[in-house]
Amino acid sequence: MKKTIKDVNWAGKKAVMRCDFNVPLKEGCITDDTRITASLPSIKYLLENGAAIVLMSHLGRPKGKPNHDYTLAPVAARLSEYLGQEVKFVPSDVVVDDTVRAAAAALGAGEVMLIENVRYRAEEEKNDPEFSRELSELGDIFVQDAFGTSHRAHASTTGIADYIPAVSGFLIEKELKFLGQAVEDPVRPFAAIMGGAKVKDKIPVITNLLDKVDTLLIGGGMAYTFFKAQGYSIGKSLLDEEGLDLALDILKLAEEKGVKFLLPVDVVCADEFANDSPYDTYPVTAIPEDRMGLDIGAETIKLYCKALEESKTIVWNGPMGVFEMENFAVGTKAIAECLAGLDATTVIGGGDSAAAVTQFGLADKMTHISTGGGASMEFLEGRVLPGIAIIEDL
Ligand code: 3PG
Repeated sequence: MKKTIKDVNWAGKKAVMRCDFNVPLKEGCITDDTRITASLPSIKYLLENGAAIVLMSHLGRPKGKPNHDYTLAPVAARLSEYLGQEVKFVPSDVVVDDTVRAAAAALGAGEVMLIENVRYRAEEEKNDPEFSRELSELGDIFVQDAFGTSHRAHASTTGIADYIPAVSGFLIEKELKFLGQAVEDPVRPFAAIMGGAKVKDKIPVITNLLDKVDTLLIGGGMAYTFFKAQGYSIGKSLLDEEGLDLALDILKLAEEKGVKFLLPVDVVCADEFANDSPYDTYPVTAIPEDRMGLDIGAETIKLYCKALEESKTIVWNGPMGVFEMENFAVGTKAIAECLAGLDATTVIGGGDSAAAVTQFGLADKMTHISTGGGASMEFLEGRVLPGIAIIEDL
């Protein structure tokens, strides 16, 4: 068990809190603020319990240099709206300078400020001790609540804990509870749905899950590598050459471990990778040479929904098709709708599957949607996340 913000007496203390405010922006406007709202319970708790808070985060990949396209200013404005109080934004091209230090020192109980994108400094991603110390000196206790960045060993996610005590916020606590319980102590039957383009990218997570699940369902681009490995023609569909042998290894491993391993039985194929391209559904044994598979078909949806209806815990990572294109979103939507209607624990890995569930308006029907894309993948792979490892144990 990790220490949380509930294990600290915050009266008169200053929290240096790492959030993952890496939100999508379009022309400077936030297009999805899930990661901001996910940080609110911890921020509110700290403020109500007498703390002052210095917030920090990265945004995008400014490559260690100040770049105002990646400023956190819009995040400060959105946070102020949600909290109903000013979140003072104290920007600096070097992230921490005398003005920032003075603002942090002057911050009173119940007040909150946000510093500029920590990735304006190259030392952040190098986990530089001196930059970690600079950040730590802005407060008394490090609150780690950036689940989405906890797989990165950076100055603001791990290095800082060498200088001040580290506790977790409620978001990390929640992510560990749902992802951890699903993988370590699931109510059975336990099913995992894996999608995505490349077999190679998913090998560690599939291998780890094969030790734990009763059923594994495969969808998305990587299914075609499995078909090819089984000797079927896949036309112009996505092929991950490197993944061919790996796919056969996975099939063998699933059999050895007695896991029910489901691959699509029919797929929707189009002429081109475009929403307006003509398309039809084919059995996987009859994919035409001049077409490419972009979604799972109706028979597969039926088969997968039946398997999911028999499950009590489901983890989903990766879409079933090109859900960004309306004509090829049907399979992903059907699986999302199926999960939404189940009396089961449904845990959605971050990234594309989370975006899909949100796009279909089904986010509040899931037990938990992770705020971490890469982080939830690494967690499901069974890896120790450095940003979690540094949180003190109870
Ligand atoms: C994410 O969006 O996955 C996290 O914020 C981490 O971002 P990164 O991949 O740029 O480290």
